[in-house]
Amino acid sequence: MLHDVEAVVLVGGKGTRLRPLTLSAAKPMLPAAGVPFLAHLISRIRQAGVRRVVLGTSYMAETFSEHFGSGAELGCEMEYVVEDQPLGTGGGIRNVAKHLTAETVLVFNGDVLCGTDLTAVVDTHRRTEADVTLHLVRVLNPRAFGCVPTDADGRVLDFLEKTEDPPTDQINAGCYVFRRSVIDSIPEGRPVSVERETFPGLLAAGARLSGHVDNAYWRDMGTPADLVHGSADLVRGIAPSAALPGPAGEALVLEGAEIDPTAFVLGGTTVGRGVRIGPGARVEGAMLFDGAVVGEKAVVRHSVIGAGARVDDGAWVIDSVIGDRAAVGAHCELRGGMRVWPDVQLPPHGVRFSPDV
Ligand code: GDD
Ligand code: MG
Repeated sequence: MLHDVEAVVLVGGKGTRLRPLTLSAAKPMLPAAGVPFLAHLISRIRQAGVRRVVLGTSYMAETFSEHFGSGAELGCEMEYVVEDQPLGTGGGIRNVAKHLTAETVLVFNGDVLCGTDLTAVVDTHRRTEADVTLHLVRVLNPRAFGCVPTDADGRVLDFLEKTEDPPTDQINAGCYVFRRSVIDSIPEGRPVSVERETFPGLLAAGARLSGHVDNAYWRDMGTPADLVHGSADLVRGIAPSAALPGPAGEALVLEGAEIDPTAFVLGGTTVGRGVRIGPGARVEGAMLFDGAVVGEKAVVRHSVIGAGARVDDGAWVIDSVIGDRAAVGAHCELRGGMRVWPDVQLPPHGVRFSPDV
């Protein structure tokens, strides 16, 4: 149990890749399987025995404290530190330093859904007497992440953020263990990227950076496709979380939702509060935010339907994002990563495959 470890979660990013959903909510506050995504992460941190969690906030900073308050409901002590100007990942870590009391600090990107054993990551840190330990995973598309080659002893050899030609498929999973003194050595009061400045600088200075590699469940929730798939994995119990507001299964149906008995709702779909789904509709691996309406024989697959948005009778919405209160007219067909902005009303019978509207 990590009682002597404190956690920092970086939640200050603007979530641009998730627009328009992040126009009205910060990325870690978007609902995933019925609760703000961050609740899943904090529940895992709490389960590992960490009792104090400090959030480094910037974009929509007040929404975090408004929702989580003192942290009592999650069984931990929560503290909120606001950056007036975004300080980046390293600046965000430095900015919370004065609120930390522990010698060993777990730092998390606030948008990663992960099943790793946090105790094992801290064990690696202590066993190797590292300055920083990085949780690493293997992925198919390492170019989208921080590429981190290690030697046979697990020592980090390099840190290459979003490089065109990654030398390995092993990447930074967005969870670190820091020795407190390393946090204090990050420059204060200006933007710093932990990935582009701090880690390469530490390596150049001969610091010991350890890699902890495992094959736990892992997904960065930063794009609509990942958010939708991650949420479905939470609903189906594939991604572990103690914060799931119901039993794991093919669908999570929240209070006040009305689903016609002839509709099919499956694939880890979340049906938000007060949602209505009409006869013969098919909703698969989707996120229906509160108050959304899916009409008769409509098809929604791997998509997000925003709060109060409508998918009218016979419309198809595949791999797309429909903003809050927007409407997709009857028999419309949307595919290919379409994003409909909030309040936009699409007339019936349209066929659209990007660009955004
Ligand atoms: N406090 C604060 N201030 N937090 C920030 C800021 C800031 O200025 N900028 C970004 N963040 C937070 C985001 O909210 C997010 O939780 C985290 O830092 C990482 O930012 P992303 O924008 O999601 O980065 P990424 O996904 O492109 O890349 C990062 O994560 C990958 C793993 O998911 C990097 O750390 C990569 O190296 C890593 O592989
Ligand atoms: Mg990310």
